[in-house]
Amino acid sequence: MNLFDVYTINEITIVKAKGSYVWDDKGEQYLDLYGGHAVISIGHTHPHWVNRIEEQLEKIAFYSNSIRIPLQQQLAEKLGKVSGKEDYQLFLCNSGAEANENALKLASFHNGRKKVVAFSKSFHGRTSLAVAVTDNKNYVAPVNETGNVIFLPFNDEDALEECFKENGKVISSVIIEGIQGVGGINVADDSFLRKIRSLCDENGAIYIADSVQCGYGRSGKFFSHDFAGVNADIYTMAKGMGNGFPVAGIIVAPHIKPKHFQLGTTFGGNHLACAAALAVLEIIEEEKLMGNAVMVGKYIRDELGSIPQLKNVRGRGLMIGFDVPEELKDLKKNLLWNQKIFTGEAKPNVIRLLPSLALKKRDAEQFIESIKEEIHNLVSTPNPVS
Ligand SMILES: Cc1ncc(COP(=O)(O)O)c(C=O)c1O
Repeated sequence: MNLFDVYTINEITIVKAKGSYVWDDKGEQYLDLYGGHAVISIGHTHPHWVNRIEEQLEKIAFYSNSIRIPLQQQLAEKLGKVSGKEDYQLFLCNSGAEANENALKLASFHNGRKKVVAFSKSFHGRTSLAVAVTDNKNYVAPVNETGNVIFLPFNDEDALEECFKENGKVISSVIIEGIQGVGGINVADDSFLRKIRSLCDENGAIYIADSVQCGYGRSGKFFSHDFAGVNADIYTMAKGMGNGFPVAGIIVAPHIKPKHFQLGTTFGGNHLACAAALAVLEIIEEEKLMGNAVMVGKYIRDELGSIPQLKNVRGRGLMIGFDVPEELKDLKKNLLWNQKIFTGEAKPNVIRLLPSLALKKRDAEQFIESIKEEIHNLVSTPNPVS
């Protein structure tokens, strides 16, 4: 049997990982500023995370949600404390798409409405409703198409107000990434998020903060939406939550009441996933990783901002993007193959940095030296014009 070929891959086989480094099967070391797509939050194979999972594995890995799982309650309490949303309620699932799917459904159950507002360049996942609110036609199969989604331009307060004026009484929810990831590291304006909050309040709609990529401390605050100083009704989270162990969740404001059977999952909240997620929060707290994300992130953004060829350096904490001009189009590739540094991208011309929140300053310094060297090489030996 062959693999179903849906990914564009780099011909590299990674066999070992530690902190912000990975090694391939030939022993070559790479600096990982991609974090396996924003997933590695506390660093690859962090010893506390490994121990927590191993110890749990020896006891019990899984039982269904038909019994009490105290680890879930421990996780809820820890998450409440670290995120500052102590009065919220936690529902655990398995992936970012599933988290968003549940958030959108719950909003609709809550207010009995069907319309969802989403924004240009959004990415919310691949399942049916999550992909329907994703602004990329390539991902939406005919069966996912629905007339229930209203797309508006990102950060356009007038368009949002106009839309609520016309549809306010039928809008179930507004879903927005605090910082768009796949869309190219676009930061939602604080005033835009506050406008969403007030329009949702005035119209009985639910504000869903997709924090799958920009959450879990990556921005320097637990949720990047926190910069706006308002609370969402539902936050969705995944990627960094398990540091590579598949675990996801939504946290739900106290005014939304749970009803049996509305949400559910077989694997969500299993013992092993809870152990992994608890280990992540313990390390985020103990090693002050949000503070590190602020400090190292600022250093990287300042340094990148002083490189004249790179445009529009943006982001928050360790979620960073910048535009790469046409003459440097090989930069990402050269960083990987010449400098052994993994970075991410967003089409057509954005490099995205999504490293572990424990990235060390000296690794950031190495990256800045390397990127300068690669830019210098590309500028002094331009591609032949075809
Ligand atoms: C903002 C955002 N939401 C949702 C998802 C979907 O997450 P998953 O791939 O875990 O389903 C992603 C994945 O990249 C994402 O970046």
